[in-house]
Amino acid sequence: MAKTPIRFTHNGDERAVFVDDGQNLLDMLRRTAGDLTPKYGCGQGTCGACTVLVDGEPQLSCLTLAETVDGRAIDTVAGLGNGRLSPLQKAFMDNFAAQCGYCTDGMLMSATALLKKNPRPTREEVVEAISGNLCRCTGYEAIINAVLAAAGGAGAASAGRR
Ligand code: FES
Ligand code: FES
Repeated sequence: MAKTPIRFTHNGDERAVFVDDGQNLLDMLRRTAGDLTPKYGCGQGTCGACTVLVDGEPQLSCLTLAETVDGRAIDTVAGLGNGRLSPLQKAFMDNFAAQCGYCTDGMLMSATALLKKNPRPTREEVVEAISGNLCRCTGYEAIINAVLAAAGGAGAASAGRR
């Protein structure tokens, strides 16, 4: 199988790897780059568990060819808190926003992208931002509340926080 050399930044670190023809970004990150935070859910672009940031934009890594990230910046949950919990991760903990946790990394990346662009989102904007991330456990309210809490409580009144 042909291998293609690519370079990219992974949570700020320069990386040079060889990718297989047809290998997707999720597989490359997990197998080659050793980053297990993006999760394999459906493999078909419907669950959002594999969401990472490519040049700051949420992208489904299961549907992204690894060779297309040559020269780009990839960010994952592994780089969020520099070894500590980021404020958003802490808000997820404080608001009981993870049960099994399988969707959590994808949720965190979608929410990270939202808060970077829009530090004071409304509840509706949070719902829109995570609309591609499926959760089978939480019923979403705790997740939405966590994102609003990380944003400093903006929109909390309309969120009906518990
Ligand atoms: S694993 Fe990528 S969207 Fe489900
Ligand atoms: S916490 Fe289990 S799928 Fe979301």
